[in-house]
Amino acid sequence: MKLVSAKEMLDDAVKGHYAVGHFNLNNMESVRAFLLAAEEMKSPIILGVSGGTAKYMGGYRTISDMVQDFINFLGISVPVALHVDHGKYTEALDAIENGFSSVMFDGSSYPIAENIEKTKEIVALAHAKGISVEAEVGGIGGEEDGRISRGECADPNECKMIADLGIDFLAAGIGNIHGKYPLDWEGLHFDLLADIKSKIGDLPLVLHGGSCIPDDQIKKAISLGVSKINVNTECQIAFTEATRQYFMDGRDKESKGFTPRAVLAPGLEATKAMCIKKMELFGSVGKA
Ligand code: 13P
Repeated sequence: MKLVSAKEMLDDAVKGHYAVGHFNLNNMESVRAFLLAAEEMKSPIILGVSGGTAKYMGGYRTISDMVQDFINFLGISVPVALHVDHGKYTEALDAIENGFSSVMFDGSSYPIAENIEKTKEIVALAHAKGISVEAEVGGIGGEEDGRISRGECADPNECKMIADLGIDFLAAGIGNIHGKYPLDWEGLHFDLLADIKSKIGDLPLVLHGGSCIPDDQIKKAISLGVSKINVNTECQIAFTEATRQYFMDGRDKESKGFTPRAVLAPGLEATKAMCIKKMELFGSVGKA
């Protein structure tokens, strides 16, 4: 199976009233964990690559070759989209040239007119190659790759302007933030979500910061039109906790327990289990 654009899987999710998970890659173990989870659950999947991950894992070409080779090697038969997460303009261009099947251009930090201009250019270049495009209105709060932004609420009229550029799915801030949520977090703004949805029709909506949001809010967001949910932090925490437990149990001292593959195995399994848990919550199991 070749990498696919995320358009079709998300259009199907809109029709079927479920969401497809976007899971962020962090290392080779995460590639294997997410692909195996998707295959086992017969779920479509989107693998997200931030600018930081792209640098760490050898650039967009290395990553796209590696993911495609893993798909072939593991015999993965479900649809897999390889997607740029929060791409700057140059990162989106780089990924379009280097084997990605989907890109996010995050122009939310620009004034709306500039966001529109740049998004338009990315749409033209990406669509010429069959690559899907996600755009963003209203910054998502929290910290990601060292960039800290406040949670913003998107302006529904600006959402409509960006939606009309021919993008394939739209990320809009509705009080969601990346990473762990503060204790005094107000929750998702469902009235705003409904308002945005009424303006953009059947265009799939994306919820960033999908970790640590209570399940009932996730389900409500899906019922109101969210069809792609981004998850990173909870998978990272699962990986780290399992790895810590391995050392606390002294397993690195047993036999060949010191080998890097043995050390990383529990983290890989925990990442896979977290991915499966999210696919069940999002309703994408059996949809591939
Ligand atoms: P979390 O790290 O909060 O799960 O958010 C991930 C995300 O939105 C990536 O774009």
